[in-house]
Amino acid sequence: LILRTFYMFFFRRTWGMVSTCPFHCVCRNLSESLSTLCADKGLLFVPPNVDRRTVELRLADNFITEVGGSDFANMTGLVDLTLSRNTIHHIRPMAFADLESLRSLHLDGNRLTTLGPRDLAGLVNLQHLIVNNNQLVKVSPQVFDDFLLTLEDLDMSYNNLKRVPWESIQNMASLHTLNLDHNLIDHIAEGVFGELYKLARLDMTSNRLRTLPPDPLFARYCLRLTGAISPTPYNAVISLNFGGNPLHCNCELLWLRRLVRRDDMETCATPLHLAGKYFWSIPEEEFTCEPPLITRHTHKLWVLEGQRATLKCRAIGDPEPVVHWVSPDDRIIANTSRTSSFSNGTLDILVTVARDDGAYTCIAINAAGEATATVDLKIIPLPHRGGGSEVERADGGSMEEEDDEEEASRRVGVQGVTSTSAQVRWDLGRLSGAYVVWMYQIQYNCTADETLIYR
Ligand SMILES: *[C@@H]1O[C@H](CO)[C@@H](O)[C@H](O)[C@H]1NC(C)=O
Ligand SMILES: *[C@@H]1O[C@H](CO)[C@@H](O)[C@H](O)[C@H]1NC(C)=O
Ligand SMILES: *[C@@H]1O[C@H](CO)[C@@H](O)[C@H](O)[C@H]1NC(C)=O
Ligand SMILES: *[C@@H]1O[C@H](CO)[C@@H](O)[C@H](O)[C@H]1NC(C)=O
Ligand SMILES: *[C@@H]1O[C@H](CO)[C@@H](O)[C@H](O)[C@H]1NC(C)=O
Repeated sequence: LILRTFYMFFFRRTWGMVSTCPFHCVCRNLSESLSTLCADKGLLFVPPNVDRRTVELRLADNFITEVGGSDFANMTGLVDLTLSRNTIHHIRPMAFADLESLRSLHLDGNRLTTLGPRDLAGLVNLQHLIVNNNQLVKVSPQVFDDFLLTLEDLDMSYNNLKRVPWESIQNMASLHTLNLDHNLIDHIAEGVFGELYKLARLDMTSNRLRTLPPDPLFARYCLRLTGAISPTPYNAVISLNFGGNPLHCNCELLWLRRLVRRDDMETCATPLHLAGKYFWSIPEEEFTCEPPLITRHTHKLWVLEGQRATLKCRAIGDPEPVVHWVSPDDRIIANTSRTSSFSNGTLDILVTVARDDGAYTCIAINAAGEATATVDLKIIPLPHRGGGSEVERADGGSMEEEDDEEEASRRVGVQGVTSTSAQVRWDLGRLSGAYVVWMYQIQYNCTADETLIYR
C-alpha cells in the first residue's frame, strides 16, 4: 500500500489534448470538458498536478485526511467534486474558495466532526451538498451562507447531530431534498419549513424527536392525499419520513393525527399506555394532555429584610408545565440581578427589600391549561437607624473624597471595589467604647437592572 500510494509527478500525453494527468489517474477530455478520475488509487492527499481546467474531479475511496491550501486553487471551472469515503477529518477554511462553478460536493463517508463558518466559503453555485456518514456534532449556521439560495439537496444523515442550524435551513429557498435521518436531533424549530416552497423530500427518521411543531409542510402533504387542490405555492409532491422517533403522543400531536395519512409506521414511545402503538391507529381521543396541577407550594414565608427568600411552587401535568411568578404589583417576574425565576417553579429573591412584601402568584401553564397558587411573603423590616450612621460611597474601585473637611472623622472605609467584592472597614478610633455597631447595610447599584440593592 505504501509503495502504491507513494506519489509521483507524471506527465504523459494521451488522446484528447490533455497535458498533465496525475499518476494512476485517468484524464479524459470529452466534449471539451476535462474529467480527472482518481477514485480508489490509494492517494494520501489531493494530487498537486491536477489540471486546473478540470470540470470533474473524482477522488473517492482514497486515504486523504485533510483538504485545503492549494488543493483546489484556481479550479474555477470545476463543477463536480467527489471526496466520498476518504478519511478527511479537517477542512481548512477557504479550502474551496476558488470553486465558483461547483455544483456538487460529495464529502460523505469521511471523519468530519464539525463544519466551521468558513469551511465551505466561496461555493456560490453549490446545489448538492452531501456530508452523510461523517461524525458531525456541530454545524455552524454560517457554513451555508454562500449558497443559501442555490442549495437544492442537503444530506447530513448518519451523523451525531443533536442540533441543526434551523435558522439557516429555513432560508434555503431552493431546497428540494433534506436528509437529516439517523442523528440525535430532538428539536424542530417551529415554522422552519414555512418558506421552503420547493421542498419535496424530508427525512427525519431515527432521531430523538418527542414532538413535532405544527407546520404547513405536513398539512400540504395531507391535502394532496385527500385529493384537495392545494391553493399553496408549495411543491405538490412531498415525501416525509419521521419514523423511529420517540414520539410523545399527547394532545400536542393531535394536529398531526388529524391529518389523513395512514401509510407510515410511526409508533409512540410515551405515554406508557400508548408505548409501541402505531401512531395512525390510535384514536384521536387518546391523544390527551393533563392540565397543570399544583401539588405543593410555599404558603407563607417570613423573611428578615435583606435575607434571601425562596418561594416554591411544584406543578405536574402533560406536557410538563412551565411556572411563572407574578409579583404583588401584578407583573411577571423576570430574571434580574436580584431575582431568579426557574422553570421548575422556584423563585429566588436573593436580597429582599421592604417593598417585596406582599402576595405572589405562581402560574403553571401547559398546552392543556393553567393553575395558580398564592404565596404570602412577609418582610420583617430591619431598624433603619438614621442620624448617627456613616455613609461611605465607592465608585468603580476608588474612594470618592467627598467631605474633606471631615476627613479626620471618617470612620468607614471602602476599598478594592470590583464587580463582585469590596472590602469595608470601620475604625472606632478614640470613640471606641462609646460606640456600638448595631448593623451595617450595603447599598449598591447594579448595571444589570439599575436598581439599588440593600444588604
Ligand atoms: C480538450 O480538447 C479540446 C479540443 O478538442 C482543446 O481545445 C482543449 O484545450 C482540451 N482541454 C484540455 C483541458 O486539455
Ligand atoms: C493560481 O493562479 C495564480 C495566479 O494566476 C498563481 O499565482 C498560482 O500559482 C496558481 N495556483 C495554483 C495552485 O495553480
Ligand atoms: C432565569 O434563569 C434561569 C437559569 O439561570 C433559567 O433556567 C430560567 O428559565 C430563567 N427565567 C426566565 C423567566 O427567563
Ligand atoms: C429548581 O432549579 C434550581 C436551579 O436549577 C435549583 O436550584 C432548585 O433547587 C430547583 N428547585 C426544585 C424545587 O427542584
Ligand atoms: C443606578 O445607576 C444608573 C447609572 O449610573 C443610574 O442611571 C440609575 O438612576 C441608578 N439607580 C438608582 C436607583 O440609583
